[in-house]
Amino acid sequence: MSLQAIKFHSSPEVSLSILNQLQVPYQSKYLDVDSIAPIPEFTQFSGYDAIKGMYTRGAPAIMLVGCFSIVVELNRVINGVDSKKFGYDITSITQFKIRLLQRIDELISSRPTAVNLTNGCNEIKKIINSFQNEDLKQLYKKILDFSENLYKEDYQSNIDIGNHGLKYIIDILSKENYNGPFSVMTICNTGSLATSGHGTALGIIRHLNQFLSKDKSKYNFYFDHAYPCETRPYNQGSRLTAYELQYENIPFTLITDNMASFLIDNLNRKKNHTNQNILSTLSSNSPIRFIIVGSDRIVQNGDLANKIGTFQLSLIAKQYNEIKFIGAAPTTTIDYSTKSGEDIKIEERPKDELTMVLGAKMNGNVFATDSTTGDVVLERVRMAPLNIQVWNPSFDVTPHANIDCIVTEKDYLVKDDAGNFHL
Ligand code: MRU
Repeated sequence: MSLQAIKFHSSPEVSLSILNQLQVPYQSKYLDVDSIAPIPEFTQFSGYDAIKGMYTRGAPAIMLVGCFSIVVELNRVINGVDSKKFGYDITSITQFKIRLLQRIDELISSRPTAVNLTNGCNEIKKIINSFQNEDLKQLYKKILDFSENLYKEDYQSNIDIGNHGLKYIIDILSKENYNGPFSVMTICNTGSLATSGHGTALGIIRHLNQFLSKDKSKYNFYFDHAYPCETRPYNQGSRLTAYELQYENIPFTLITDNMASFLIDNLNRKKNHTNQNILSTLSSNSPIRFIIVGSDRIVQNGDLANKIGTFQLSLIAKQYNEIKFIGAAPTTTIDYSTKSGEDIKIEERPKDELTMVLGAKMNGNVFATDSTTGDVVLERVRMAPLNIQVWNPSFDVTPHANIDCIVTEKDYLVKDDAGNFHL
């Protein structure tokens, strides 16, 4: 059973709850979502709150939570909750649609870089705009069906991405008659917690472990080890990816983002390097052959926005002929309307994500818990001087020139002879 970021039920009651990822890996608690966006003194916790506050994160997961939050609000409105408090006029379908579209636009504004949320919401907007009937129950049913399908399709996409990523890696290594073990590196969290389940980049790593580990590989090569980067400043790598890899029993070693080039140089240039002492403290010495990352937006020419730190990994990969840089994402991450990465809006996040760290209080070598609630005690600690300037772009753009392969649920895609992707 893989970790579950989103729980949605349409019967007997409609309910949406999301894993509070601010508390992972310390504890697993779910929060109920009751609306699209906050309305003071009326809503408790909206899809907007969940996404903006990073309770749910990861491009596909925020799309799904966003769409399901629309279903939840609509269900409440058609089932007698005070619709006026939400600002709806249920006596006029035209006015109702205008207000619903406004609410959805507010939801979309929660996180600007990941395009999946916009893509999912735009499909719902199309349903709303083309709805000519007066019966709100029918509108609800259409949006419910769309959102439930989106969830199922996302899960299937992840499995297909895993298969296509695996195939690309087998094709590359077979072509060069590679012999022996290999390792991979990744950044951020792209697993079950960032999607409906399984994951994109992490889904490929999961596939590698399942089908290409030493005891299961049918080839002369096998998957040996994963290196997740910590992923400063929000630490999705250390908090979430390390948690998922441990949960799945996948061999891995956590590194900080600024260790990537030193690690790769030591592993991949074994013959010349002078740091044998460093290698002897690693549990695996196999070279890194693939850097596999997820994506928040892939534009027409194949440029890819992903977690800050992805671009520098692509530059490192370029220094080593043998390292292939792979971007993995479902087609809901493709923005066909944007030509190149220069036009992607990059989200800047609060400064305190850099200057403060949120962690669990320890009691000996276990997490300390509150004696009444049983909750793990979380502490925010400042790690920088007060009153300093801080820059916190949450994503960067990797140009397609640095990307060897884009893996989607449809296939794996490499560049043509002129260096262009055809998405
Ligand atoms: O800020 P986050 O945690 O939402 O960023 C997530 C990432 O950058 C992921 O790599 C990306 O969304 C792909 S998730 C399958």
